[in-house]
Amino acid sequence: MLKKTTLIDRYAVAGNPVSHSLSPQIHTLFAQETRQPIQYTTLQIPAENFKEAVLQFFTNGGKGLSVTVPFKKEAWLIADIRTPRAQKAGAANTLWMADNQLIADNTDGVGLIRDITLNHQISLKNKAVLIIGAGGAAQGVLQPLLDEKPKQLIIANRTASKADKLVNLFHTKNNLSSCSLQEVNGDFDMVINATSASLQGQTPDIPATAINSNTICYDMMYDLKKDTAFNQWAKQQHAKTTLDGLGMLIEQAAEQFFLWRNIQPKSAAVFTALKNNH
Ligand code: ATR
Repeated sequence: MLKKTTLIDRYAVAGNPVSHSLSPQIHTLFAQETRQPIQYTTLQIPAENFKEAVLQFFTNGGKGLSVTVPFKKEAWLIADIRTPRAQKAGAANTLWMADNQLIADNTDGVGLIRDITLNHQISLKNKAVLIIGAGGAAQGVLQPLLDEKPKQLIIANRTASKADKLVNLFHTKNNLSSCSLQEVNGDFDMVINATSASLQGQTPDIPATAINSNTICYDMMYDLKKDTAFNQWAKQQHAKTTLDGLGMLIEQAAEQFFLWRNIQPKSAAVFTALKNNH
């Protein structure tokens, strides 16, 4: 008698370090909810071996990779094909193979926008938005933010020249501009922290006047147990609301799951499960 076998498709998150990643939990919960036969693990890759390790993963039958720090730029570079949104982002967080070609996408921007506009029901249309930071995290979400048609989008960065470069890269219309942290000035409906400062428990040195009781603050970093440093500071400035990047993390994963499995998982239950488990 033939033994019945269940085929499990393999996925992983590639990074270094990666043991702390919540992606295995998130994708496993999506798979349970949608009854998809997948296994999702972590793949720690030595810094100099990214391309080799990725190609080996797919040669061995792997179906898809999430990519995290420090490999998002490299994932973009090694791809045969980049989706238009990955192209704009200059970095990739999602890889898969199709017709023997390595495809790279970036779901961070859509993750941020869905968290803001769907989960939190906040519209960015005609709003004044400040984004702090001009690294990969900021670049990854700029086009999706612009697509929401804010009245004004200002990029402020500690190294002002990097913010200028980003503006030039997006060489768009007049609603995008840049400045140094100290030059930040104005009333903002939303302030998004896209710096890595919270990782060191620091806050970017912007004038406190950038935040008032009408300002919604969003830290793209997250902390399951407490407010991030940026959100603690924003609360001291009496921000209207403070949000962190957990919802964005789950939404960017949901988009990956959709790209790989063609099924849109539900994110709300995963948000609750992660909050309750930690
Ligand atoms: P990522 O891919 O996470 O964006 P990155 O490309 O290294 O990482 O960029 C980190 C961003 O956080 C940069 O905008 C950096 O500012 P600089 O360009 O001036 O380096 C910003 N950043 C990191 N620590 C910061 C701090 N303590 N205060 C202000 N900005 C900080």
